[in-house]
Amino acid sequence: MQSTDDSFENLRNDFPILKRTVRDNKRLVYLDNASTTQKPNQVIDAITDYYRNHNANIHRAVYALAEESTEAYEAARDKIAKFVNIKNRQELIFVRGTTEAINLVAYAWGRPHINEGDIIVTTEYEHHSNIVPWQLLTQEKHAKLEYIGMDDDGQLILDDLDKYLATGKVKLVTFSLMSNVLGTITDAEKIIAKCKAAGVPTLIDGAQAVPHMTVDLDTLGCDFFAFSGHKMLAPTGIGVLWVRKSVLQTMNPFHGGGDMIREVHKYETTWNDLPYKFEAGTPSIADVIGFGAAIDYLTKIGMDNVRQHEIELTKYAIDEFSKVPGLQIYGTKDITKRGGVISFNFADVHPHDVAQIIDGEGIALRSGHHCAQVLMERLNVAATSRASFYIYNTKADVDALINSLNIVAKVFKL
Ligand code: ALA
Repeated sequence: MQSTDDSFENLRNDFPILKRTVRDNKRLVYLDNASTTQKPNQVIDAITDYYRNHNANIHRAVYALAEESTEAYEAARDKIAKFVNIKNRQELIFVRGTTEAINLVAYAWGRPHINEGDIIVTTEYEHHSNIVPWQLLTQEKHAKLEYIGMDDDGQLILDDLDKYLATGKVKLVTFSLMSNVLGTITDAEKIIAKCKAAGVPTLIDGAQAVPHMTVDLDTLGCDFFAFSGHKMLAPTGIGVLWVRKSVLQTMNPFHGGGDMIREVHKYETTWNDLPYKFEAGTPSIADVIGFGAAIDYLTKIGMDNVRQHEIELTKYAIDEFSKVPGLQIYGTKDITKRGGVISFNFADVHPHDVAQIIDGEGIALRSGHHCAQVLMERLNVAATSRASFYIYNTKADVDALINSLNIVAKVFKL
């Protein structure tokens, strides 16, 4: 597919929800994609086809439906592995989403590996899901949680990382590949190189990055990587944890139950092969299959085209935003260092008031702390408004947003 505004405009026909109107017959302009994305017919159909024609539990029975269901589930694992270049499918664990993936690592890897006095390093622009599990773990283990700071351009201050690594006490460095508030793309290669030189494992929260750019886990070199399906056209409640096999083999199970065992006796149990050791209970089979369909859809477009489309849209939006009276954008304006997430504020106007006026125009965007209160403290604000783009957004959506922002400026006499 060619990366033109027209070809992306055509994609909109695949998304039934984009045809509806809201608030007195206004065209729906959906700009909350960092929160969750809309679903194309291809994903919706894959899920309904599964329930209509194939529904059965997986890995447990030999009848026809069970075989079909298992095959479709495992085929989706292969598609997703290929999409992010995971060479060994045993390393791809299905979880409910990024939050569960990080909690799994904090519990199953963190508990046996983190001891009193150890340091876990995260960053000031993390989502709560990459802060709170580490707070819980470090509090339990009497270890320390430290933060890599951020400069005023929204870039991490890597001298902080050097300082922590020099203590020799760091046991894990964790960071998001793209900030869900500022859109900053983290220089993962640099961080991983520093950590590798110090013998420290790295965990990447890829929830905001994988939907928007090519990510190659085989060359990235981290040890843990998490992402969610619902931010990339797939259903909610399904995500991926990737762990390097040598690390995975040192980990305890997270949940105990069916499918994760080889043999259970009265007082002891042996574990199933990877990745099933970490997939206890009946999984979200239909959602995994829907995730596979989303991967097919994105593969057809090409992730380099997705990135290019979002670069064009974000550049256009940043230029247009700068013409709106009283509006301040957070984070870098360097388009090569950021994704299609734009947080902003109007002087003293509360983001909820902004969102309400904008909602009246049919535009959906998020206002609040975006599950990133540490970052809000760093920015010295209680909240921001945030517009975030995806493949079906066009310049017409940006124009609609700018019109509504000009209404806000007018109402508040900015
Ligand atoms: N992580 C999601 C967001 O940034 C919920 O909105």
